[in-house]
Amino acid sequence: MTSYKDLGLVNTKDMFAKAVKGGYAIPAYNFNNMEQMQAIIQACVETKSPVILQVSSGARKYANKNLLRNMARGAVEYAHELGCDIPIVLHLDHGDSFELCVDCIESGFSSVMIDGSHLSYDENVALTKKVCDYAHKHDVTVEGELGVLAGVEDDVSAEESHYTKPEEVQDFVKKTGVDSLAISIGTSHGRQKFKPEQCTKNADGVLIPPPLAFDILAEIEKKLPGFPIVLHGSSSVPVEYVKEIEKFGGKLSDSVGIPEEQLRKAAKSAVCKINIDSDGRLAMTAAIRKVLFEKPDEFDPRKYLGPARDELKKLYMHKNVNVLGSANRV
Ligand code: G3H
Ligand code: 13P
Ligand code: ZN
Repeated sequence: MTSYKDLGLVNTKDMFAKAVKGGYAIPAYNFNNMEQMQAIIQACVETKSPVILQVSSGARKYANKNLLRNMARGAVEYAHELGCDIPIVLHLDHGDSFELCVDCIESGFSSVMIDGSHLSYDENVALTKKVCDYAHKHDVTVEGELGVLAGVEDDVSAEESHYTKPEEVQDFVKKTGVDSLAISIGTSHGRQKFKPEQCTKNADGVLIPPPLAFDILAEIEKKLPGFPIVLHGSSSVPVEYVKEIEKFGGKLSDSVGIPEEQLRKAAKSAVCKINIDSDGRLAMTAAIRKVLFEKPDEFDPRKYLGPARDELKKLYMHKNVNVLGSANRV
């Protein structure tokens, strides 16, 4: 058993309490390779932001669980070397079984998500409680989910989203003991968050999505005052990246994300963790495509992964400062 405390990591408890009180959200950035990790740490150190490093089960399979865990340990040392000991959480994103959560807790994760959102309410309660009971013995925090996001949630996929029912949240939190709750108010995973027919178009032909269900968020806040709420599927899918990727040979039709001003508004409420993965994928892909298109003779990976890392860092700094409000909170 490796405790996260021995790796220099923290759980989400204090981080979330401060974020709820301060009216901002902690960035939860997914990673599965070294350049992403470097960009996240550089950006969060430079903006003095706490951070959640998220690992999906797919990322664990891709990168190897021991390597990822040791990268998180390295991230703590790297932040220190860069001059700021920012609080760092290592979090399992979309855990789909008790066994996976236990494996992560035993190998140094400080926080886990158990995603029982596709189960019946009672099954979700039972599974989430089982994970909480185990995790809390090790001072690890747990995120549960109520309501279903459309799109792919790792191995779990859903065609349609189902908003969280505010009348269920108090009972769920009480019965399970979760430390935070992911809700569904209209966000979804990936780069196509809405169907084109759900959107309007602006003068430049850019798709404008329908607004998030802030009325449901307000009802949930009323039922659970001060309780940490999590938003998944919160990439904004910047049109500049989509255009850049298409300019250099990519094809990403009908891409649409969550507008930044809506995320800013959410971050000022009880939403204290905002999950972003797709925007990082877009930033990296745009930078890599550009280099390979403009320099067809380039074959040193550092020459395209380096610019990708720089673009990622720029993106994360922008999110921390201008969207989540997490900058200068350390
Ligand atoms: O919510 C899903 C995250 O973006 C992780 O995606 O399962 O492809 O690693 P992944
Ligand atoms: P995006 O696909 O919008 O980046 O969402 C990521 C996410 O929710 C990870 O859990
Ligand atoms: Zn998610």
